[in-house]
Parts: sequence; structure tokens; C-alpha cells
Amino acid sequence: MKSSKESIEIEDFGAGSKHLGKTRPIPSILKTSSSIGKYGEFLYQVCKHYKFKNTLEFGTSLGIGSSYMALGNKGGTITTIEACENTRKLALNNFKSKEINNIKSIHSTFSEYLNNIKNEQFDLIYIDGHHDGEALLSYMEKLQNYSHSKTMFILDDIRWSDSMLNAWNIIKKSPQYSFSLDLFRFGIVIPAIEENKANYTLSL
Ligand SMILES: C[S@@+](CC[C@H](N)C(=O)[O-])C[C@H]1O[C@@H](n2cnc3c(N)ncnc32)[C@H](O)[C@@H]1O
Repeated sequence: MKSSKESIEIEDFGAGSKHLGKTRPIPSILKTSSSIGKYGEFLYQVCKHYKFKNTLEFGTSLGIGSSYMALGNKGGTITTIEACENTRKLALNNFKSKEINNIKSIHSTFSEYLNNIKNEQFDLIYIDGHHDGEALLSYMEKLQNYSHSKTMFILDDIRWSDSMLNAWNIIKKSPQYSFSLDLFRFGIVIPAIEENKANYTLSL
């Protein structure tokens, strides 16, 4: 994908891109909208260590983050949601060419998915799309019904905008989560793994 000469037409269901227009070259999507490098490796290691059974990802894009998580724990299942069908098709090709079989890709907006979801419980929830603070707070609220006391929530781009940082601060302070870890780009919260509330900040 780094050397691809192709561009695709994007349907934007999120907060938009700071740098890219509607027609986007694949290498630019890879560079600006994917969990490449240390962020992908972090997702891989977290999944390898915790062996989550059920993972939910909001925002598939080219499938880079999904692939890291799926390869980190081949015994788990990743459900990944993407509303832009042109982007999703590229992700499906990537999963196929790398023979990654533990990813379930769903073509939907996050809201539609949350309106239709039934009887699911996720151990890891990675929210990486629609970087708007109010939207993030609303997704987090709705996802309470599909998580448990030890579910790990990884929130991407918590410093993307003032509204995202504001939402992160609200989430971090909320009594709903006993643990928070601020990695500058990622914010991580878990409902109940600490007896007393613990907030950590660490540079990744
Ligand atoms: C930052 S990219 C995801 C990167 C990917 N998680 C990774 O780790 O490589 C965000 C993706 O979310 C999708 N998206 C944004 N808002 C959405 C929404 N409301 N519903 C569904 N998909 C959305 C965009 O189309 C985009 O492909």
C-alpha cells in the first residue's frame, strides 16, 4: 500500500480529515489514518498479552489496526466497523492476502451498529474513528451495555481537537472507570481493575 499509485473516493462519516480531500491516494490514507509503526505494535502486544476473546474496533480504514490485533491473538475474534465501502474493500483484500481469518468486517456506521447490536460482550474496544468529543462520549455510554468490568477501552487521537481532549478528561475523571492511562495519542480506560482510582500518564 505504501507504493500504491491508486486513489479512492472516500465517504466521510466522521469528523473529517485535517489534511486529505475526498479523493485520497492509498499511501496517504496509510500514513495519516492507520495504526502504523509503534501504535500498531502496541495493539499487537496488548492483544498478545491479554488474549482478548472478543474485540470491537470502531473504524477499520485499510485494516492495519485490525490486522495487528488479529495477529497478536489468533484465538480471538475482531469485529471491525467501517462505513466507507471503498475503504472497507481495501481492508478485506488485505485480510485475504495476509490470510487473516479472525476478523469480522461489518459495513455500517457506528450509530447504526449500536442500534442493531444484540447480546455481544467485548473484552477490548478500540475506538478509532469519528474524532468528535460529543460523539465519543455518546459511543462510550452506549458501549457500557456491551462491555464488562474488565473491558479495556482504547481511545485513539485523544488530542486530535479540543473537543476530543475535553471528552477524554471527562472519561478519565468519571467514576465509571477505576483505571486510566494517557499515552498522549491513545487514552486507555478500564472500569474495574484498581480498588482506588488510578490515573497514569506515560509517553509511548
Ligand atoms: C483513523 S481511521 C481507522 C484506522 C484503523 N483503526 C487502524 O488502526 O488502522 C478511521 C476510519 O473510521 C471510519 N469512520 C469514521 N466515522 C465513522 C462512523 N461514524 N461510522 C463508521 N465508520 C466511520 C472512517 O471512514 C475511517 O476509515
